[in-house]
Formats: sequence, C-alpha cells, structure tokens
Amino acid sequence: MTANHDQIKFAYWVPNVSGGLVISKIEQRTGWDIDYNRRLAQIAEQAGFDYALSQIRFTAGYGAEFQHEPVAFSHALLAATTKLKVIAALLPGPWNPAVAAKQIATISQLNEGRVAVNIVSGWFRGEFTAIGEPWLDHDERYRRSEEFIRSLRGIWTQDNFSFRGDFYRFSDYTLKPKPPQPLPEIFQGGSSRAARDMAARVSDWYFTNGNSVDEIKKQVDDIRAKARANNHSVRIGVNAFAIARDSEAEARSVLNEIIAKADPEAVNAFGLEVKNAGKASPEGQGNWAESSFEDLVQYNDGFKTNLIGTPDQIAERIIALKAVGVDLVLLGFLHFQEEVEYFGRRIIPLVRALEADALQHVQAAE
Ligand SMILES: Cc1cc2nc3c(=O)[nH]c(=O)nc-3n(C[C@H](O)[C@H](O)[C@H](O)COP(=O)(O)O)c2cc1C
Repeated sequence: MTANHDQIKFAYWVPNVSGGLVISKIEQRTGWDIDYNRRLAQIAEQAGFDYALSQIRFTAGYGAEFQHEPVAFSHALLAATTKLKVIAALLPGPWNPAVAAKQIATISQLNEGRVAVNIVSGWFRGEFTAIGEPWLDHDERYRRSEEFIRSLRGIWTQDNFSFRGDFYRFSDYTLKPKPPQPLPEIFQGGSSRAARDMAARVSDWYFTNGNSVDEIKKQVDDIRAKARANNHSVRIGVNAFAIARDSEAEARSVLNEIIAKADPEAVNAFGLEVKNAGKASPEGQGNWAESSFEDLVQYNDGFKTNLIGTPDQIAERIIALKAVGVDLVLLGFLHFQEEVEYFGRRIIPLVRALEADALQHVQAAE
C-alpha cells in the first residue's frame, strides 16, 4: 500500500432529520431545523471540517419523525457558508438523473462548486411502498445506482450525451450550463459486494458504515485492488460516532447511557428492516449483517469505529484508520454544535500534528 500524504478529511452528518444520530432517549442537544443547521455548518467550517453530509428519508423509520429534503437543505447550508462542501443525498428511484444532474449543476454554479452528491441505494422497503416506488432486488438497486452515476457523469462531461441502460436512456442530450470544474464529487453509501464493485468502477468516494480498523482494511484492500484493475481510483470514507471527553471513563459512561436509554422497539424495527434489505443480496450480507443491538443504536454502526475516549486516543485511532487507507472520517455526535466545535479545537490539531510527524519520518527515510 502506498502511504497517503494528504491530510485526512473530516465530514459531519447533517442532522436534517429529527431525533439525532442515535436511536436513544438520552438527551440530545441537536436540532434538525434550518437555524440550528446553518449555525452548525458555520461552526464546522470554522472548526476545520471539509464536508457536511445530508440524509435522505421519505418517512419515519427509527424515530426520525421529521425529515427535510436534502438537496434543498444542502443549498441553504451552502448559502450560509463559504468553504464547506455540502454533500446532497440522492436516492435513485425517486430521483431521476436528468433532473438531478441539472439541479446539482445549478447549485454548483451558484455556490463556487461546493456541492457534492451521495448516491444511496435504499434499504427501507416501507418507504418505497409509501411513495409508490417499485422496490427492486438488492443488486438491481445497485445496477440502477450505477446507471444513475454513469448518467450524471455523462451529462456533466459530454455534449450530445447518449446512453442506453436498462433504467435510464439519454439521446443526444446537452446540458447547459454544465457544473464548473472540478465537477461535483460523487460519493456512494453501502458496503455489500455490489456496493464495493460499483465503487471500484464509477464512484469518486466509497462511504461505509463504522467498523474496526481490521475490517475497514479488508474493505479498502478489496476495493482498491478491484479499482486498480478497472483503472479507476476511489477514495474511502468511514462513519464514526465520536464521543470525545476529557477522560476515557467519562466518554465510556456517555456511550453506556446512550445504549441504556435506547428505544428497543425502534432499534429492533430498524435492525429487522436493514438486515432484510442486506439478506436479499446474493452473498446474504450488507452493511448491517454483523450488527448487534448495541451497534444498531447508532444507525450506521458508528460505535464500532471506536472514536470514543480522550482527544489523544481519538486522534491516534484516526491515524490508524488513515494508515490502512481511509481518506475521510464521517462523524456523528450527541450534541452537534458543541461537539463539532470541541472536535475542531481539541482533536483536529492533534491529528494534523501526528500527520506532520509521520510525513517527517517518511521524508527522513527517503
Ligand atoms: C455514509 C452513508 C450514508 C447513507 N445515507 C443514506 C441516506 O441518506 N438515505 C438512505 O436511504 N440510505 C443511506 N445509506 C444507506 C445505503 O445507501 C445503503 O442502502 C445501505 O448501506 C445498504 O447497502 P448495502 O446492502 O450495500 O450495505 C447510507 C449509507 C452510508 C454508509
């Protein structure tokens, strides 16, 4: 593996759905409204965060009773900031690639190219049923997502774009204006075989659920080997729920309280839904195949990454992720505004210092 000398990037989950990032009745000083989120975005860019990731949800599933639409919401966050890149979630099925390509091109034009997209493939059958969208099999969802991504890229880069897929067709289509260069980055979320193979072919970024360094390494090695064979390069983002406190005991006790106050009905309903979605994949797995009840309390397995402890411990664990090839850490918090600020003040500088040390060692050895 070649060493990565770029600084690791930081993203946070935009709380554009209610209920925070854990399915727990613990107090969460996190709002889902636009005023809270505008202020949060400003704190985050000041704190050294590179990206904000919005979520797409059509109906409640695990709480999350209220859900703002992510493209409109992302645009509002861009208007409130100057440096932050905002990643708008898009769900093929409800979204059509011609509309999405045009909408994102305009947002990119209006906001110095700071918009990116996250193509998600869906795990929530009930949501599709509720809005009258056909529910495809697992790998069909990914075939559609891949056509969606190829369509976006084609529309953004070519004049007279033509495409004949099973899900989307374009004939001699020219979008004007196209988004400014560099093009909006294309992220994707999901960890199954189909997700990894899609990343190795078409995505700029692969987002995966939280996991241990060893498990993340397996995914990175697998995807990068396949991407190399396809002459494609893909960067890797990993989810984590951060609990940074001045002592490790304090951070662990917050985790214990989150789990003790979990809403069992909502966690089990969510677990059933996501495990069913993954079981429909040919390998019978998916993002949440190994997730326990405790893991599911953070709905993208964010506790597993173990960014729970003191600032020093967390900085070291981030460097360990970087050492196995991770390019970005995506973070959720209990009290977003306060903790994003704390993370920027206490942890990012430690990570930057460790990165500078590592670079010096490499240069000394050369
Ligand atoms: C970082 C990340 C963000 C995601 N965001 C959303 C989202 O906003 N809405 C959604 O329906 N699914 C979202 N997903 C779910 C994935 O698109 C996918 O449906 C799920 O991970 C199951 O895929 P798999 O079977 O390939 O693991 C996200 C996944 C990840 C890892």
